[in-house]
Amino acid sequence: MASTFSTNGTAAIPIWFVTTANYAELRERLDPPARAYADAAGFEPKPGQCLLLPAADGLGGVLFGLEGADEPRNLFLPGRLPEQLPGGVYRFANEPHDTRLAALAFALGTYRFVRYRKAERPQAQLDLPQGVGRNELERTVEAVTLARDLINTPANDMGPAELEQAARALGSRHGANVTAVVGDDLLAGNFPLIHAVGRAAVQPPRLIDLQWGEANRPRVTLVGKGVCFDTGGLDIKPDASMLNMKKDMGGAATALALAHMIMAGGLKVRLRVLIPAVENVISSAAFRPRDVYPSRKGITVEIGNTDAEGRLVLADALALADEEEPALLADFATLTGAARVALGPELPPFFTDDDKLADELSRCGVSENDPLWRLPLWRPYQAMLESKVADINNVGSGGQAGAITAALFMRRFVAAASWVHFDIFAWTPSAKPGRPEGGELQAARALYALLADRYR
Ligand code: BES
Ligand code: MN
Ligand code: ZN
Repeated sequence: MASTFSTNGTAAIPIWFVTTANYAELRERLDPPARAYADAAGFEPKPGQCLLLPAADGLGGVLFGLEGADEPRNLFLPGRLPEQLPGGVYRFANEPHDTRLAALAFALGTYRFVRYRKAERPQAQLDLPQGVGRNELERTVEAVTLARDLINTPANDMGPAELEQAARALGSRHGANVTAVVGDDLLAGNFPLIHAVGRAAVQPPRLIDLQWGEANRPRVTLVGKGVCFDTGGLDIKPDASMLNMKKDMGGAATALALAHMIMAGGLKVRLRVLIPAVENVISSAAFRPRDVYPSRKGITVEIGNTDAEGRLVLADALALADEEEPALLADFATLTGAARVALGPELPPFFTDDDKLADELSRCGVSENDPLWRLPLWRPYQAMLESKVADINNVGSGGQAGAITAALFMRRFVAAASWVHFDIFAWTPSAKPGRPEGGELQAARALYALLADRYR
C-alpha cells in the first residue's frame, strides 16, 4: 500500500499553520513577494482558510488557518489540506494544535475509494514531523483504509465469502490462524441463530474465527457484525432505509481494522476476532416473524422482526466468545437506527457495566479524536423484550429506547465481567475534515489507545 508519508523530505513544501494570534508575526517572516501576494489575495487567518504561496521556482508554501484547540474535533481540521493541495511533498513548518492528530487527519484526508475508478489527480504527501511515531501512525492509517475499503465495497463484491477472504488475508499477513464454520455446519456446531438469519442467501452464512498471539496472554476478543447486506428480510426495509445497507458489515470491518492495529503493534494479548457473516435477504428459506429458534446459549428466541437480525447473529458469536472468559470482550455493530436518532452519525454510543472501562474509553475517545458516548444498560427496559412463547423476543415492544433494548438483548448472552458493545454508524454521510464521505472506522482508535495502554 502506498504511504501518504514521504521519506525524502529535502524539498518538501512548508505548510504554515496560522491563527489570529500568530499571523502578524508569521506574515513578517514571509518573502516580500509571497507577503504581497497573501495581502493582495485577501488572506485572513480564519479556520480552514488555505492559500498557496508563489515562489520564483513554483510553489513556495501554504498558509492554513486553524481554530481553537478547545473544540476536540478542530484537531482534525488539517484533514482538509489534501483536497486543496496539488500533488507533491509537504511538511509542517510550525506546530498545529496536536501534531500527531494533524498528521493523522492529513493522511486520512487523502483517502479515495479507487476499486472501480482511478483517483482523478495525484495525491499530496506529508513529510512526517519530528517526534511523531511513523510506525504507529502508518498502522492507524492502514487500519482506517482497510475498514473504509471493506465498507465501501458493495455487497456484490463483499459477501460473506469475500469477508472471510479479507479476514484470511489479514490473518496471513500477521501469522494468525483463521477458520470458518460455513452453512449447515453452523447447525452441527450449535450456532442456530447465525444459520437462521443467513440461510436464505445464495452465499451461505458463516462464523469467521481469527486467533493470534501466545495462548497464555490475557484474552481480548472482538466480535463484529458482518451483515454483508441487510434488506430487512421478510420485514423488508423501504428503499431509502435499504440504500446504504452494504455498510451493515461495518462492525466486522471495525473488528478487523482494530485487529490489524493490535497485531501490527505487537500488543501482549491473546487476540480472537469472531465475525458472524451473513446476508439478510428474502427467499423461500428466509426466517420469519414469529419463528422461534434455540440459541447457542440455550435461550430460546422469538422473532418479532426479521430486520433485527444483527443482535441475533451477534448473540451466538458472543456466547461462543464468552465460553473462554476473555479479560475483555468488545463488539462492534451497525445495530440500530435508534442510536442514530439519539446521537447522530458522528457519536457512536457504547454500553458496558464496567465503569472503569467506560471512564478510560471516554478519555481515549477524546485524546484520539474518536468520539464516543456512554449509554446505560437500563435493566428495567428488559421487560420490553418479553415473549409469550419463548425466553426472549428479538425486538422491544413499544418502539422506544431501541438502542438500549438491542444492547440488553445481547447482554443476555454474555457473562463476561468486562463486555462493551459499540453501536456504530460506520459511515460519514457528508465529508468532514479527514473524513471523506462513505465508510468510516469508528471507536477502534479509541479502544486501541486503551488496549495499548494496558497491554503494550
Ligand atoms: N442494520 C440495521 C440498523 C441500522 C439502520 C444501522 C440504519 C444504521 C443505519 C439493523 O439491522 C436494523 O434494521 N435495526 C432495526 C431494528 C428494529 C427492527 C427493532 C432498526 O433500527 O430499525
Ligand atoms: Mn436489520
Ligand atoms: Zn442490520
